[in-house]
Amino acid sequence: MRRLDATDPANAANAVAEAARVLREGGLVAFPTETVYGLGAAALDISAVERIFVAKGRPSWNPLIVHVASIDAARELSADWTPLAERLAQAFWPGPLTIVVRRSAAVPDPVTAGLDTVGIRMPSHRIASALLAAAAIPLAAPSANRSTGISPTRAEHVIRSLGDRVDIVLDGGATAVGIESTVVDATAESALVLRPGAVTRDQIESVVSISARAPRGTDSAPTSPGQMERHYAPSATVVLFNPEQAERESLPELAGSVAITHSLDQVPGAARTVRLSDDPALYAARFYETLHQLESEGVSLIAIEQVPESAGWEAVRDRITRASR
Ligand code: TXA
Ligand code: MG
Repeated sequence: MRRLDATDPANAANAVAEAARVLREGGLVAFPTETVYGLGAAALDISAVERIFVAKGRPSWNPLIVHVASIDAARELSADWTPLAERLAQAFWPGPLTIVVRRSAAVPDPVTAGLDTVGIRMPSHRIASALLAAAAIPLAAPSANRSTGISPTRAEHVIRSLGDRVDIVLDGGATAVGIESTVVDATAESALVLRPGAVTRDQIESVVSISARAPRGTDSAPTSPGQMERHYAPSATVVLFNPEQAERESLPELAGSVAITHSLDQVPGAARTVRLSDDPALYAARFYETLHQLESEGVSLIAIEQVPESAGWEAVRDRITRASR
């Protein structure tokens, strides 16, 4: 594994050119996006894509997101680029939205886990864009962590999780958004949110209509395959607690924990409280980062304050629930 520093714009061009060369030869490159670091490989090269699954220990039934440099490149990967997909792309690309459409014959089976659809995203991070432009090929890239680990928001997190399983880690510093993209099914006339993420349901609804086809949480609902997994999980035990209750009485299950909060400054009984933010976007930007930090300290019990039920907290709520499963 080689770590290439791309934080300094003076080095970035050389680092990106070298990473692009390795990708074109079928290698694995971890690179920063605005959400989390991705583990990239040439999306149309079956053996390169298979290396991603091996490096992550990812089950073959979990499809990958393909990253592209333009809407035109997305169209080439799709058999039916719907008007809905076009509107979503116009509104949110480049940015943290993954659009699921029917795939074209160009997209190999392992990328989509055999599904007839493909998830595509045009990232906005300057290094991700530069890498896509330099490689001039679409890049399959899941989050750059071992399967079921916490998604990485810094190069150090990638190195700790994947080490020599990757050829190059492009270091672009900390990512800004801090949680993964929103995944939206755009195969029909209205949008279906498969994974809540950085782009909120309200933002999506401000440009297209959202489908009532699949009320969330029903067994029959079509879901993103990856959503079944115990994802985003730290190795510590994670418990959730209700802030009002924790303030009223000292909860025995919080004793000795490190607490992560959005509203409380100090959680009774906790050894330490890390207060993130009461703004969901700012909270998201620090959430995985904090879990990585506590994991590296060997903290064994993490207590997370439940967040509000409101729409703006949906993605954070989803990640907190998964971390605590
Ligand atoms: O922000 C992100 O999305 C990051 C960065 C690197 O782009 N990537 C990421 O990838 O989070 P990953 O593999 O960790 O999560 C991809 C999610 C999974 O839940 C997967 O099931 C879903 O996208 N997905 C991919 N293709 C799909 C498809 N054709 N249909 C439904 N869901 C799909
Ligand atoms: Mg992931």
